[in-house]
Amino acid sequence: MSTIQTTQLNVPAEMIDFGVGQPSLSLLPLAALQQAAAHRLGQGDPSLLQYGAEQGDGYFRLALAQFLSEGYGMPVEAGHLFITAGASQALDLICTRFTQPGDTIFVEEPTYFLALRIFADYRLNIVSLPMDDDGLIVEALEEKLAQTKPAFLYTIPTFHNPSAHTLSTARRERLVSLSQQHNFLIVADEVYHFLNYTTTPPPPMARYTETGTILSVGSFSKILGPGLRLGWVLAVPPLLDRLIHSGLLESGGGLNPFTSGVVHSMLELGLQHEHLTHLKTVYHQRSATLSTALRQRLPASVVFTEPEGGFFIWVRLPEEVNTQALLAEARRYNVSFQPGVKFSSGPGLSNYLRLSFAYYEIEELLEGVSRLAQVIG
Ligand SMILES: Cc1ncc(COP(=O)(O)O)c(C=O)c1O
Repeated sequence: MSTIQTTQLNVPAEMIDFGVGQPSLSLLPLAALQQAAAHRLGQGDPSLLQYGAEQGDGYFRLALAQFLSEGYGMPVEAGHLFITAGASQALDLICTRFTQPGDTIFVEEPTYFLALRIFADYRLNIVSLPMDDDGLIVEALEEKLAQTKPAFLYTIPTFHNPSAHTLSTARRERLVSLSQQHNFLIVADEVYHFLNYTTTPPPPMARYTETGTILSVGSFSKILGPGLRLGWVLAVPPLLDRLIHSGLLESGGGLNPFTSGVVHSMLELGLQHEHLTHLKTVYHQRSATLSTALRQRLPASVVFTEPEGGFFIWVRLPEEVNTQALLAEARRYNVSFQPGVKFSSGPGLSNYLRLSFAYYEIEELLEGVSRLAQVIG
């Protein structure tokens, strides 16, 4: 067998790894992309292969603005969009342009563990804020603000990674007014906003960008394909200008002009919309199946809330269980997960674990729960 690696992921064939927060191969729409690429290349415009406009191709931004206007239920202006090579790259560039090493930023506890990796690259001082079922606890933020002004607050407001919680509308509004009052930026990572299964989420943080204190980050990774490396930042032009007028953009031009051309056709031909509808049906089934199986097979001391969207189930075990230690045991049964401590900016969350239902088909999810039940049962 070849040892040449083609994807980031490297899971042994016999393993069911609930830790993988990626779409299964069966959900990556090769045929639709082929149609979109043929449509774009067939237009005979060689500028597709030219250095792109720094802010992102203007026609693509118009099409994306229309897609977002429909999805967010609010008018989105193309001039308020900056095209990135995915949400990770957006976060990285935001750190480059809005922080200095040693600056303090606020994050949620738990938070997306790889965002913590990006923040570590910039040597930022992380202060974590607690969450409950309604997302970030805003009173805790107010207390911290009395002591420190952060360079920014990083939040995942909708179908959070890993907790699956969604910030309530009232808290969103309070957060926005605090950011104005205390003059700090909110970086809202909204990559799961469109993946709602059993509920309509509150308006995205993108709704409040006119305040000039919010950078709303989005991505095609969760709604189309992570390999495209395509995303956006929605914010007022003065904030976008800080990102656009950077050495990276001035040297290399816009971040992903060829791919954005192809995805432009996905939008224009209605293929993105169709694919999103399909994803929501499949992920809803997977989420419901995994939740039901966990309830049936795991002891009552194992607690979780069935997700209303996103990719993840965040599971709490009894206080004394250390999920990092449990992971070694689980791997002997060929099942794996992300231990809670990864999502903590300190040593916390040691009795939590994160399961993703995005990567596996129904039968595999069920088999994975059988294996988990042998470890946790
Ligand atoms: C909250 C969150 N932000 C960002 C990303 C990465 O997005 P992208 O592929 O657009 O860089 C992920 C992927 O898991 C995520 O869960």
